[in-house]
Amino acid sequence: MEERSKNIQAMFDGIAGRYDFLNRLLSFRRDVAWRKEAIKAAEIETGHRVLDLACGTGDMMLEIGRRAPGASVTGGDFSLNMLVAAKNKIPDGIFTAADAHFLPFGDETFDRITIAFGFRNVTDKSKGLYELYRVLKNGGKLVILEFSEPENKAFAALYRFYFKKILPLIGGLISGNRNAYEYLPDSVYKFPKRPEYGKMIADAGFKNFRFIPMTFGIITIAVINK
Ligand SMILES: C[S@@+](CC[C@H](N)C(=O)[O-])C[C@H]1O[C@@H](n2cnc3c(N)ncnc32)[C@H](O)[C@@H]1O
Repeated sequence: MEERSKNIQAMFDGIAGRYDFLNRLLSFRRDVAWRKEAIKAAEIETGHRVLDLACGTGDMMLEIGRRAPGASVTGGDFSLNMLVAAKNKIPDGIFTAADAHFLPFGDETFDRITIAFGFRNVTDKSKGLYELYRVLKNGGKLVILEFSEPENKAFAALYRFYFKKILPLIGGLISGNRNAYEYLPDSVYKFPKRPEYGKMIADAGFKNFRFIPMTFGIITIAVINK
């Protein structure tokens, strides 16, 4: 595994314990609604095989279970501490250690793939997208929920202040790992802008995609069809 990816893995291993609490606090509980919207956009049906990649502590899996109880969901993540936290929350859940760059699944395994707040951490995003394309069935859907930069200039300035100053302070104090909460805004600002992001998706071979902006553009859901 590449060095940068190893550091990201260690960082998530380090914050797994306080992750849920901080998510709710720092997003003012909006994270719950954002996940729900992404799952709605995935149009998961009874009988579908679903991969929730970068599943973290399992919140997407729980919500998919509520919304589509007839689907079979696998959670994949490369942080073992996150997987342990998820397994504690969902004892009968199916989990696999999985790095987005080298997915341990055969071609065309899943009808749906969801990734919430995980894709920006994938160091080689093109490689990740090729892997996602490979394990998704023809006619399947990939839904990526990720932070994005708001377009309104005044709001963008306020957001930047909160994200760069307040969030690392609170996140650092509570998790004991300020670096992780400084990395968060950095990774969002380094995330490819929509034209480049769209090009990467198309280059991986996907048929089409659309972006759904939410909450003044601080969140974007990408709905991608194979
Ligand atoms: C911010 S958390 C999101 C967790 C969860 N999806 C949620 O909605 O709360 C990001 C997760 O992505 C995982 N992750 C980061 N890079 C990854 C990679 N290359 N392969 C698999 N998982 C990865 C981390 O271990 C972490 O659990």
